[in-house]
This record gives sequence, structure tokens and C-alpha cells, in this order.
Amino acid sequence: MEKEIGTVISGIDSPSPSALDFVVNQGVVHRGQFVELDYSEGTMICLVTDVFKTNRYFERAESVKEFESSGAKLFEQFPTAEWEYLVAKTRPLGVFKNGITNRATLPPGPGTRVRIASNENLKIFFHFSEEGLFLGNVENHDLPVKISMNTLLKKHVALLATSGAGKSHCASVIFEELLDRKKEAGRIGIIVFDPHGEYSSFADRAPEKGKTDYSGKTILVKAMDIKIGVPKLSVNALDSLIKGLSPVMKRELGKILADLQKKMRSGKGPFDLLDLKEAISNSEINENTKGPLLAWISELQDLNLFGKTDNPGIFDLVQPGKLTVIDLSELIDLRKKQIIVSYISKRLFYARREKAIPPFLLVLEEAHQFCPQQASEEMAICRSIIQTIAREGRKFGASLCLISQRPIQLSTTVLAQCNTQIILRITNPYDLKHIGESSEGLDSRSLDMITSLRVGEALIVGEATHYPLFFKVRQRKSAESRHEMPLEKAALDFETGKEDKKKEIEEFL
Ligand SMILES: Nc1ncnc2c1ncn2[C@@H]1O[C@H](COP(=O)(O)OP(=O)(O)OP(=O)(O)O)[C@@H](O)[C@H]1O
Ligand SMILES: [Mg+2]
Repeated sequence: MEKEIGTVISGIDSPSPSALDFVVNQGVVHRGQFVELDYSEGTMICLVTDVFKTNRYFERAESVKEFESSGAKLFEQFPTAEWEYLVAKTRPLGVFKNGITNRATLPPGPGTRVRIASNENLKIFFHFSEEGLFLGNVENHDLPVKISMNTLLKKHVALLATSGAGKSHCASVIFEELLDRKKEAGRIGIIVFDPHGEYSSFADRAPEKGKTDYSGKTILVKAMDIKIGVPKLSVNALDSLIKGLSPVMKRELGKILADLQKKMRSGKGPFDLLDLKEAISNSEINENTKGPLLAWISELQDLNLFGKTDNPGIFDLVQPGKLTVIDLSELIDLRKKQIIVSYISKRLFYARREKAIPPFLLVLEEAHQFCPQQASEEMAICRSIIQTIAREGRKFGASLCLISQRPIQLSTTVLAQCNTQIILRITNPYDLKHIGESSEGLDSRSLDMITSLRVGEALIVGEATHYPLFFKVRQRKSAESRHEMPLEKAALDFETGKEDKKKEIEEFL
């Protein structure tokens, strides 16, 4: 058992089942640390939300000023040090007895002795699992945060923080843990939509010394190489990608598609938009419908995204124990990005429902762009499939990891389905308020603490740990993202010609 460090004191509102202060008798206690105490309901675990020092000698401003303005020092003439106390404010998180955790309904009495919480108790309390994913360490406790894959991912996870606070780093740590799993432990596939190319370094062969080589477990797909196979698309699927079909156009297009699909099955081979256009031109459709239909197909062609077959095929896209990075960084057109995300997510979800592919984790960086709270259907092409996965995915082993620096812009339907949230530093008050409202169990003090987190420090809330827990995300084993290049190096690279793409861009323009 850990050594006793303090005693519960009596204040105006504490001790109560939701607030408890204690005075430190020996040693120190830090904000964010956990303490425990035994009383009638069992062992209570409390989070230290604040610590402050008091000293009677310095309580009255006018006396301190009067004494010290003459040049004398209080601490030289009085035993001030003996009257300095360290008081810790805590929030009782719960009580456990015989391995069962409950909320406290009675406070411990003033005078109860307080200990630093033991690692054994914290492990039980936060539902850590020895075989779980090692995400980091609980600061001041030397305790690894290990969360079972099932509880962290099954009911989806959201990674929320201001830019640069460490979201992608934390996501990379989760990927490493998933990639390092043995077959017997159960391995899932990971697919990440990567708008900034932050994860392509996982595919680096022979990364710098000390870093683990994940290239053998990484499939890198460049946006430019992605093709959507036209024969797989129904009229409704096409219409959901690009709006603009009238009911008549839909009906005629449906007939032509059905005819082409029939011919394909009879041995003519797959078809693309060019074939579709030709079939429309040669058909007997009324000219008033034909014109707009051909114009609509031309719009699809301009996207340069459709082909005879899917590339990559769904079975190449997701494999157990492998990471597929879909690098969208070379795409500027948000609509094209959305079409890719929507199409691939749909295929993944339906294929998993049929158990044709392994369980997977679908990771969406910049999630607020893909499933926004406020945007018309046309501007949020993939929102509905992401909402469907959020609602139903857990039944099939289709999990989501949403990453965003603007939680307030993220669809609340989707955010509410993320049963675990990992929150790193957030300073924007609107985002904080939104998070406070969407996660029960987060009080105003914890929210305050989120604003002062340093890079890589996180708060995990929700089903994975049951109680909010601050921790330091561990170092990564994989190569650092190239995206995080220091400004000095980027400037130097430009001047030494490495990034001088002027000619290329002029030609392009
Ligand atoms: N736990 C950590 N330990 C050490 N370094 C970290 C940690 N977390 C983040 N960093 C460093 O901080 C920098 C920013 O992290 P990261 O790229 O993950 O931020 P981000 O939240 O994804 O930002 P953005 O919104 O711009 O994508 C990186 O250089 C990264 O290496
Ligand atoms: Mg990032």
C-alpha cells in the first residue's frame, strides 16, 4: 500500500461526494495526480484538480505590507515556514469495492487519511488491459495507459485538438499498436484518409536510425491513381456523388446502365464513362433529356476519377494488420476528395457487412470537412455514409476514428456516436464549450485543464476508461511525418532548388 500523504479537511462545500480537499502532511502532490482513501463505501479514487499553498502570516495584505515596507522580512522574524500548507482540491471520481466501481453517494469524513493512488487500483479503476494498446503514460504515476482494442475502437473514437497539439502523432501511436499486434490477438485493417500526406511516412523503407520500419505493413495509395469502376455504380449512387439528375434523366440513365451491365455479363467486358456516353448518344432518348444527360456525364468525366474497374480493388484496400494510407494531399478539389471518401467508405461498410473484408478502423483526418454539422447535402457528399457507419458500424466491426481541429463544425450526430474522445490541447472557447456539452463527466475544471495542456498531453474521456484521464501520449516508433518540416528547412530546400517547382507550376497554369 502507498504511503499516506495527507488528511481530508473540512471546508464550506467539502468533503462531499463531488468535492474533497485535503492538506498534504508529507511529500507533495501534483495537479492531475490521483489519490485514494478508504472509508465506509469502499476505496475512493480522486483526481487532484488543483493545489495551492496557504500561510496565515501572509493572509492579510495590509499587515504584510506594513511589516515588510520597513525592510523587515516576515520569514526572518517569524516561523512562517511552519505555517505553510499545501492544500489539494480533488474531484472524487468513484468508489470501488470488491472490484466493482460506483459513484460515491456519501463523503468520507474530515480527518480521513489520503494516499497516492496505487497503480494496481488505477489499473482496475480505468479498465486498463495488459494486452491493450499502449498509448502513453499517466504522468506522476509511472503507469502505462493500456486500453483494450475493443473498448477503444469498437464504438468509435474522436481525436480532437487545436492544430499542432499532437492529433496525428497520437493517431500514429494507435496505428503502431494495431500494426504490432500478433495474429492470435486479433488484427484489424486500418484505412486512413490523409488530406495532408501526414501518414505517408509509414511507407518509408529503412527510416532513420531508431525508428521502426512499417513499410511492409503499409499500403500507400495516391489520390491520382484512384479509379471508381462505373459498372459498379447504380443510378442512385451516381446521383449521390454529383447532383443534377431529374427524375426523367434518372429513369433513362437507369435503363442504359442496366443494358450495359447486361452486355457486360454476357462477355463484352466492363464499361466506362466514354462507353456510357456513346450508349446515350446512340439511344432513342428524347433530345431534351439526352443533352442534359450528356452534359452531366461530361461533368463526371472532368473529375478524371472514373474507370472500367475500381482501383485499388476493395480486397487490396484493407487487410488484417495493415495500414492503408489514402494520400489525398495532391488534390485541391474538395468535391473530388469527398467523392473518393464517400465511395470508398460505402464500399468498405457494405463489404464488411457481408464479412467479405476484415474488421477495420476507418480514420478520417479533417473530419469536419467530410462530415460537417452545417452544410448542404451537395457540400457534404460523404456525411450520410459516415453517419451510417457511426450509427451501425459497431455491429459489424466497422470502427471510426475521427480527427478534427474544429469540433464545433463536426456533425453532432457523428460526434455523439464516438463513445471515446481523446482530447489534446484546445484553446478555442467555442470548441471547448461544444466538447463540454457532448461529453458527460467533464466538469469545468477538467475543461480548464484542457486549455493548458502541452503538446502531446491528452485527456481521454468516455467508454474506454469510464472516467476522464489525463495522460502523456508516448513517443512514436514510426518515422516522423514529413509534413512537420521546420520552416527553416522548408526555406532552405526552396532556395537550394529542391522545392523549386516554378517551371512545373507555370506549365500547369
Ligand atoms: N506525444 C508527443 N511526444 C512528442 N512529440 C509530439 C507528441 N505529440 C506531438 N508531438 C510533436 O508535435 C508536432 C505536432 O504534432 P502533430 O502533427 O501530431 O499535430 P496535429 O494536432 O496533428 O496538427 P495539425 O492539426 O496541424 O495536423 C509534431 O512535430 C510532433 O512530433
Ligand atoms: Mg495532424
